[in-house]
Amino acid sequence: MKYFLSGSVIIILILIALFGYRQNIFSYNTLPYDDEQHGLDDQIIINFSHVVAENTPKGMAAEKFAQLVEEKSDGRVIVKIYPNGMLYNDETEIEALRENEIQMIAPTFSKMTDLLPNWQVLDLPFIIDNNEELKTVLTGPLSEKLLQELNSINIKGLTFWNNGFKQIASTSPIINVEDFYEKRVRMMPSNILKQQFLLLGAEPIPTSFGNVYYDLQNKQVDAQENTISNIYSKRFYTMENHITLSNHGILCYAVMINEDFWNNLDEDIKAIILQSLEEIQDWQFEQAQQMNEKELNSLMQMKDVKIYKLQDSDRKQWKAKIQPIYEVYRKQYDENYLNEFLEELKKEQIIK
Ligand code: LMR
Repeated sequence: MKYFLSGSVIIILILIALFGYRQNIFSYNTLPYDDEQHGLDDQIIINFSHVVAENTPKGMAAEKFAQLVEEKSDGRVIVKIYPNGMLYNDETEIEALRENEIQMIAPTFSKMTDLLPNWQVLDLPFIIDNNEELKTVLTGPLSEKLLQELNSINIKGLTFWNNGFKQIASTSPIINVEDFYEKRVRMMPSNILKQQFLLLGAEPIPTSFGNVYYDLQNKQVDAQENTISNIYSKRFYTMENHITLSNHGILCYAVMINEDFWNNLDEDIKAIILQSLEEIQDWQFEQAQQMNEKELNSLMQMKDVKIYKLQDSDRKQWKAKIQPIYEVYRKQYDENYLNEFLEELKKEQIIK
């Protein structure tokens, strides 16, 4: 018994010694000092998730924003970008933001309309005619009011980014209004967008951005509305090789941050974030416009891609068919938003 006890004690001591050796517990040597690790504890990481490619108006704006914030904060704030829906898709990113699993996103405003139905005012087609009007509205008081509404869902709205005008990309030509008949058209989740396609005689199919390519491959949709930069960067044109330049609606992004995360930031960091966004704003709007133009040119060079410019007569017919949609908005949502929208366009003396 005595031998057994002392044997067990020795074995236990050997095991402790072995474990300690492997874990470096008894070592007097300190770990080598790594300069680059200095201050990492004080670093603020902002995880910014989005669903489009890096070479798009949103992807590039996110990169430029990250660079500026890092520069201005001397590396104290790092914005990590996760593009292409690699972390969250457009159906999950809003919840992930509200839960602070990620800190920033920039979804198309249409994707906020389930939570904030009045935002559908921006989904109304044929209101904005050109890039100047687009910028006026997205930087004016109505946009400010929309961003403030985000407070009610634990989100701080920062600004709007632009992508541009939506066109129709389809597997067969859609030019006359009748061409929409029974076409299965992919749409972003928004009741107004649904009504728009129903009025045009099509069958609207809500799909997340990440599934569009797959749905096209599997012939589950025949068409979609999107900007040239999205059609180009995701190669939708390889299946939807008919593109009608309709400019019928806009696609823009609300840049937002988790509200609690924001409230916990020091004032100087908040200022850096806001300044960085402000500094890139003009560049962002121009960049979006140029990118869409450049990629449209590239598409025009492709012999398998057919581009149609919507003629005035066809445009009139599309508009006439869609006309009841404004009444739908006025009846179902807060019509003051629509009035303010139209007022803002008028105030800037932009004659429609
Ligand atoms: C879409 O779903 O088509 C767009 O919202 C994608 C994007 O973020 O531009």
